[in-house]
Amino acid sequence: MTSGSSVGGPRVRLCFVCLGNICRSPTAEGVMAALVKAEGLEGQVELDSAGTGAWHVGESPDSRSREVAARRGYRLVGAARRFTAEDFDNFDYLLAMDASNLENMRALARSEQEKSKAVLFRSFDPKAPRIAEVPDPYYGGPDGFDRVLDMCESAAKGLIGHLRSTGQLAGQTTEQPG
Ligand code: 4NP
Repeated sequence: MTSGSSVGGPRVRLCFVCLGNICRSPTAEGVMAALVKAEGLEGQVELDSAGTGAWHVGESPDSRSREVAARRGYRLVGAARRFTAEDFDNFDYLLAMDASNLENMRALARSEQEKSKAVLFRSFDPKAPRIAEVPDPYYGGPDGFDRVLDMCESAAKGLIGHLRSTGQLAGQTTEQPG
């Protein structure tokens, strides 16, 4: 597959990556899907998610993630799959939730160019610290799932702003006050 500029196809291909692909990355994907729709960018953006671990392959998003997401107006879909080296061919941005996900993805890269596609998702949030992760909520309490959603909302807006300001998406850059 060539890059996301093929005629008629999505211009930017994004894959969100965590460990299990049942909590954080499906949440990030669901939040981004809603934002893409709200901003009228459907057709310009292709979305997916994956996990660097294989324990939950085939499973739906975690029920706690789905409940928090539904309460806040998002629907999480898909079945967990494992990240593979071919994802470097199929996506323009591989958005890691934490430093460990980032390291595990980069270990599979076959070139420096591929390695550079893997970045921390929150690096696009102008309000986040310079090196910021979306922490794993799996073994924690319910508040962790809400915090994951807060971080995903903020980073998703920042990523759309980045894609617009760099000409990868059409339209006005969304202002982020404060
Ligand atoms: P995720 O959360 O990486 O956000 O999907 C986790 C899900 C499962 C496990 C760890 C993290 N696990 O160890 O099974």
